[in-house]
Amino acid sequence: MSDQARKILVTSALPYANGSIHMGHMVEYLQTDIWVRFQKLRGHKCTYVCASDAHGTPIMLKARELGISPEELTQKISAEFIRDFADFGVDFDNYHTTHSMENEALTIQMFEALRTSDDIYTKTIEQSYDEKEGMFLPDRFVRGTCPRCKSEDQYGDSCEVCGATYSPSDLIDPVSVISGTPPVKRESEHYFFRLSEYGGRIRAWMKKARLDKNVLAKLEEWFEAGLQDWDISRDAPYFGFRIPGTEDKYFYVWLDAPVGYLASFMNLCERRDDLDFEDYWNADSDAEVYHFIGKDIMYFHTLFWPAVLDGAGFRTPTSVFAHGFLTVNGQKMSKSRGTFIKARTYLDNLDPTYLRYYYAAKLGPTIEDIDLNLEDFVARVNSDLVGKLVNIASRCAGFINKRFDGKLAAALPDQALFDTLANASESIAEHYEKREYSKAMRQIMTLADQANRYIDEMKPWQMIKDEARQDEVQAVCTQGINLFRSLMIYLSPVIPALADKAREFLGDETWRWHDARTPLLGTGIKAFKPLLTRVDADKVENMVEQSRETNVAQAPQNDFISIDDFMKVDLRIARIEKAEPVEGADKLLALTLNVGDSNRQVFAGIKAAYAPETLVGRHVVVVANLAPRKMRFGVSEGMVLAAGPGGEDIFLLSPDEGAEAGMRVK
Ligand code: 2FM
Ligand code: ZN
Repeated sequence: MSDQARKILVTSALPYANGSIHMGHMVEYLQTDIWVRFQKLRGHKCTYVCASDAHGTPIMLKARELGISPEELTQKISAEFIRDFADFGVDFDNYHTTHSMENEALTIQMFEALRTSDDIYTKTIEQSYDEKEGMFLPDRFVRGTCPRCKSEDQYGDSCEVCGATYSPSDLIDPVSVISGTPPVKRESEHYFFRLSEYGGRIRAWMKKARLDKNVLAKLEEWFEAGLQDWDISRDAPYFGFRIPGTEDKYFYVWLDAPVGYLASFMNLCERRDDLDFEDYWNADSDAEVYHFIGKDIMYFHTLFWPAVLDGAGFRTPTSVFAHGFLTVNGQKMSKSRGTFIKARTYLDNLDPTYLRYYYAAKLGPTIEDIDLNLEDFVARVNSDLVGKLVNIASRCAGFINKRFDGKLAAALPDQALFDTLANASESIAEHYEKREYSKAMRQIMTLADQANRYIDEMKPWQMIKDEARQDEVQAVCTQGINLFRSLMIYLSPVIPALADKAREFLGDETWRWHDARTPLLGTGIKAFKPLLTRVDADKVENMVEQSRETNVAQAPQNDFISIDDFMKVDLRIARIEKAEPVEGADKLLALTLNVGDSNRQVFAGIKAAYAPETLVGRHVVVVANLAPRKMRFGVSEGMVLAAGPGGEDIFLLSPDEGAEAGMRVK
């Protein structure tokens, strides 16, 4: 170990528990997991925590749509996340949820501390309000025509066509996404955090946090625009924590989400004697805290978060590491191209080791986007992991197993070559430390080339034919296997599952980074089994096909429709005024229906069950707001409800006496 054991706490951004983990998310979780595994391998006390981000309006509405509670939704989704992460080898020390006791207590503690120091004030503001739903609308839940370019159906905060930013009240003909009705303006009292007072303290933090220059540049832009106080409350209905002393105000999800980092750690401390919450979060803590995040959430993590922590008397993060977005085949991930690939779809088709290596080979420490080029993915993984790395072991192990009873030689024939790899240790470690993974992978693969060249030159497959050179074969293969071992130790943060298999094959119990300095000599190895198969391009194609969504309506996620969907159906009582056969249609009757305020024509496939003359004067139930459909015989303006398997067995749903044309059915 090059330096003293450090106490390090690491987090990845907390994923919203209302969707699926996809390849884009995995960039961050793999980047973080590699870094954490590296720190642990170096002998540091490194702890990695995460959680599901459970609060906010979208989660509340999604749960409502599914007819379940937000708690139930977020628990179900969290269970899926945990499985996806585990199957990708992401090894959290704790995975919690922001909807937890610890988080509520900590959020309130911070809020109270900020209130005491006069960093919180209330102010009445005006916002869009959906009268039908009885709720205030976040900007994204209002859509309308862009005031600048006049494009229709744009979000309430920005136009996707011309890029204009504005507030929902600037939209032309705004409507609520939830009810479809025009929002009104309504006043409400909100809680604000005085971010504007924190410029000096944020700047002091920026100086010591060693942020990437692109992150610093972004911060400068924000400073230039002026720091605005931050609205940290939302009105009911909202899924979150209620603000103490209020009946209907909740903490905004972005206040309690980062507190979730602390809450997850606190939850872990409750069952780990060797970890002390205060020791990591006191204002004068000597532990290191790092947040890995995507570049889209820098604002929250580099302005609000250090300010809130500082104001509430906690330590600030040692640094914040932001990464870029993922493109696939050079473009934004796309459902129609099949490149919006869910973690589970990947896992159903391919070995996670491939992706872990490929991302590492692409990742650097900056906010530059990284590209998953699927052709390059196949070629790179096959060439580096199978062709170079695993090949070293498979070229040497057979001889040791078969000819030398699985026993390695007692000395290395080329100590200098072994030392070349051992001496690369600190430079590779530095690359990992600085998140220069692509550099680390390049250096390791260059060493793998040297190892392969050594075997090529020694040609043990020829030596073995010469009875007098048997010892030499054992020595050369021992050399090859030790080079393989060093490379595997260096790669173990990136490809831990493969490294574990290699370690077991070599008979080592554990690996630490410095083990790459000491060769294995005179010990026994196990029988060699193929460690990794080549990436099958057909499986990659299959994964893309499974991810492709066409324009055809997607299969429903489950058997339920939401109450909101049901409420959209306008069911009415109609009186059949006229019923006539349709020329050229065996099964149809043309019905003229009185739906109260008007008559309309509906074609119904009930001819085999009902003679037209028996229908006139009957009341039936119809869907009155079905979009008109143009048929061969004319336009059908609704649908009559009936039960039964069809043919002669069709039964019109007729209401009891007293029902009148035009009555609503719910
Ligand atoms: O952007 C997101 O997906 C958020 N759920 C990230 C939260 S990170 C932290 F602040 F909790
Ligand atoms: Zn526009």
